[in-house]
Amino acid sequence: MTDKKIVLVTGAAGGIGTEVCRMFLNSGYKVVATHRPGKEKAEQANKWLQEEKLDGKDIQLLALDVSDHQAVSEVLAEALRDLGRIDVLVNNAGITRDSTFKKMSWDQWQQVMETNLSSLFSVTQPVFNQMCEQGSGRIINISSVNGLKGQYGQVNYSAAKAGMIGFTKALAAEGARFGVCVNAVAPGYTATPMVTAIREDVLDSIKATIPLKRLATTEEVAGAVLYLAGEHGGYVTGETLSVNGGLYMQ
Ligand code: CAA
Repeated sequence: MTDKKIVLVTGAAGGIGTEVCRMFLNSGYKVVATHRPGKEKAEQANKWLQEEKLDGKDIQLLALDVSDHQAVSEVLAEALRDLGRIDVLVNNAGITRDSTFKKMSWDQWQQVMETNLSSLFSVTQPVFNQMCEQGSGRIINISSVNGLKGQYGQVNYSAAKAGMIGFTKALAAEGARFGVCVNAVAPGYTATPMVTAIREDVLDSIKATIPLKRLATTEEVAGAVLYLAGEHGGYVTGETLSVNGGLYMQ
């Protein structure tokens, strides 16, 4: 068993998740990074570790399909037995299936809901219960500016990301007496593959509306996560920390 604090990061391979893993490792945490199950995905995850120069550091891969409730229960029960505890959970796994609502399929709705929102139930419940038993813990949910302001072409994603914020506040109310703080980070448009996949003309018009006139770096978002997980974030709970370049000011 390690003396280090242990952080579980879902959807770790790529974008914000990768930077979150790197910053936690550099801050002396042990990181458990999840990736989708299957031989091919495991190979991709190992390749990702090498490419990101994270192999050899205190990081462990865990195959987990966050949208499969039964599988998550089994995998996390075993992980918690092996690890002994989890100190910080970062619910980062998320997908987009953008389409105008008129054309959106049930499948596009369902996939986003299951991966971005229902996963919060499945992944968080076993970890939260164990954090309550140990009397401490931090849960950080990666929401989005688009859950706060709504975004054209993202009825599914905006609904799921707004749902994460309600989840965060309700769970914060329940976790407080057990010393468990629950917060959300709401990134704006961040330089990740998810955002650079947006059609160029569309992305240019979005950038033009951002007061800081640029995308966020993954470091700027991961830094907010580290703050909420760390010593100085101990009196913050039920909050949504926006990192959006002024795109939406509440
Ligand atoms: N507000 C008002 N009208 C808009 C609009 C907006 N924001 N965006 C597009 N429209 C209008 C267009 O001008 C167009 O009008 P006309 O038919 O009169 O020309 C009409 O809506 C159709 O627009 P598109 O040509 O874009 O339609 P499409 O079907 O080709 O594409 C879409 C639809 C895939 C949703 C595309 O608009 C798109 O990719 N939008 C961006 C969605 C987005 O921001 N995704 C974020 C992904 S990253 C992320 O989610 C991370 C995070 O947390 C921030």
